[in-house]
Amino acid sequence: MDQIKQQIDALREELNKHNYDYYVLSTPTISDFEFDKKLKKLSDLETRYPEYFNPNSPTQRVGSDINKSFKQVVHKYPMLSLGNTYTESEVTDFYNRVQKGLNDDFEIVCELKYDGTSISLTYIDGELTQAITRGDGVQGDDVTANVRTIRSIPLKLRGNDYPAEFEIRGEILMPWSVFDELNKERAEQEEALFANPRNAGSGTLKQQDPKIVASRKLDSYLYYMLGENLPTDGHYENLMKAKEWGFKISGAMEKCRTLDDIFAFIHKWDIERKNLPVATDGIVLKVNSLTQQRNLGYTSKFPRWAIAFKFQAEKAVTTLESVSYQVGRTGAVTPVANLKPVKLSGTTVKRASLYNEDYINQLDLHINDQVYVEKGGEIIPKITGVDVAKRGIFDEKVIFTQICPECGTHLVKDEGEAVYYCPNEVACPPQIKGRIEHFCTRKAMNISCGPETVEHLYNANMVRNIADLYTLRWQDVSRMERWAEKSAKNLTDSILNSKNVPYPRVLFALGIRYVGETVAKKLSMAFTSIDKLMVASVEDLIQVDEIGDRIAESIVKYFNDENNLTVINRLKEFGIQFELSEDIISKRTDKLTGLSIVISGTFEKHSRDEYKAMIEQNGGKNSGSISAKTNYVLAGDNMGPAKLEKAEKLGITIINEDAFLEMIK
Ligand code: IVH
Repeated sequence: MDQIKQQIDALREELNKHNYDYYVLSTPTISDFEFDKKLKKLSDLETRYPEYFNPNSPTQRVGSDINKSFKQVVHKYPMLSLGNTYTESEVTDFYNRVQKGLNDDFEIVCELKYDGTSISLTYIDGELTQAITRGDGVQGDDVTANVRTIRSIPLKLRGNDYPAEFEIRGEILMPWSVFDELNKERAEQEEALFANPRNAGSGTLKQQDPKIVASRKLDSYLYYMLGENLPTDGHYENLMKAKEWGFKISGAMEKCRTLDDIFAFIHKWDIERKNLPVATDGIVLKVNSLTQQRNLGYTSKFPRWAIAFKFQAEKAVTTLESVSYQVGRTGAVTPVANLKPVKLSGTTVKRASLYNEDYINQLDLHINDQVYVEKGGEIIPKITGVDVAKRGIFDEKVIFTQICPECGTHLVKDEGEAVYYCPNEVACPPQIKGRIEHFCTRKAMNISCGPETVEHLYNANMVRNIADLYTLRWQDVSRMERWAEKSAKNLTDSILNSKNVPYPRVLFALGIRYVGETVAKKLSMAFTSIDKLMVASVEDLIQVDEIGDRIAESIVKYFNDENNLTVINRLKEFGIQFELSEDIISKRTDKLTGLSIVISGTFEKHSRDEYKAMIEQNGGKNSGSISAKTNYVLAGDNMGPAKLEKAEKLGITIINEDAFLEMIK
């Protein structure tokens, strides 16, 4: 048996080394094939001898099957953020403040500011034991299972001179190449695109399934070590040690003494960063000596020993060639600028969002204007200004269209609103298609039918409203050009399955203006069937918590429309759920009506989501943050001290899970 253990240990050690060579040093010494063979051997041994299981084995990098919402963990040391600066004179001010505060020689470490998700890793006896997100700085999500799948994060440290226990903090990042690939895939699957690698990375880290995380190829840079027995008094020197232990530490780190050195670093990396594989958004300056850091201390929010300098968003100047207008599913008309193509942050920009009429007027846009475009972390760039001096006297002012570009109907604008609508709900093609797309989305009916499929079905005259979906036969769909039998069956299967979607989601799926997911839930609790909702007046509707005149009027208008009623009747015949299930109705009470409750911490008897559902079922309101309007805080273990303090200060009653369950009994 001991021999087996030795064999397992040797394989683990060898694979850890190869992982390090590949993911941290980027210099692999064996082929992927050889690596996979060894990994398979280890995995087979671990399956045969489960007594040697270890969560930090290289085999665990592929992600285990666990699936639960994240435990909230309080940070041993709070995770602070940094004060931001945008100008060189603010950097000079920081330098002078440090000089004055220390009255001694000091070194400043200049580093890149990585634009990802911050993470705090705990290592005990050289093994990764916990990975927590920043959360609110006081407590965060325990995402250890997900972080174990990130190859550049060591599960077991190299060498033996690391402290028995320490934390190391850094950034989890999705490389640009992975981000581009992921969005390409999502576009093909007709799924919503991620706006930037930061969102894609943090979304990935919050995935419930570590296998998905493993497939997304996240990377990491570590930049801050904390603990009682750190190897040296220098931040820089400690990170060099961390590098030896196997962490990925940025190569772009320099110790500077003078402001000139600091500015040279800033200027160099403002250019060089464009060639990096991951996103950065500035420079971080830190006093190197930990003793000096302690002497400088903290303000109420930030360390006095460190500061961030944020890079200016990249700007380009180009010509506004024309403005076109897009019509959404609710008929809202959005203006889009068509630009003379220009390079910006590595991509060619041809279009920019103009949001609404007010935005155009504020810019006083004219066709042919020289405009400044900026990428603010979104996929679609925006116009941030106009070079008025370059405007020609004959250049025409942009006047918001009064006619729907899709169907020619006169647009309308409600008083006090910024948005124009096309009122031709019944016959305006993008509105029809948009409603069908919305009906099919995952949070609505979860039908495998994205924009392209809707376009096909619409053009083939097979679907003209949401009820038509239920008349589709896979044989007919597969007869359409470019449709395989399998995808046709997938589509009709998902349509069939949607008959089980519960009433609140069906109500959301109908796409009534202003009725989002939360409003749909509220409405279905108050009016337990569509028949009851249909006959409700504005007065009835506004009795419901959070339903105001605007929503109420929109609902009444929707049900006054003959076309909508016809569609609903057909959906009823197809067996769509238009009533709340008996189970939910029987559990529904008014016990918490009018009460706003904040959930905080972790619980033993039920999950947070279950408690949220219980609050809603009993007529109460879930609220995310504590305010004077909060009636109760339902507190579990590890409630954040900041939240606790706030609740106490406002005199809000704090209850535990037993007291809560008693309340709704
Ligand atoms: S040090 C107490 N160094 O920027 C100081 N932060 O606003 C701890 N970040 O929350 C942070 N690169 O997520 C530090 N080289 C770097 C960084 C960095 C990115 C992030 C981090 C932090 C935020 C500060």
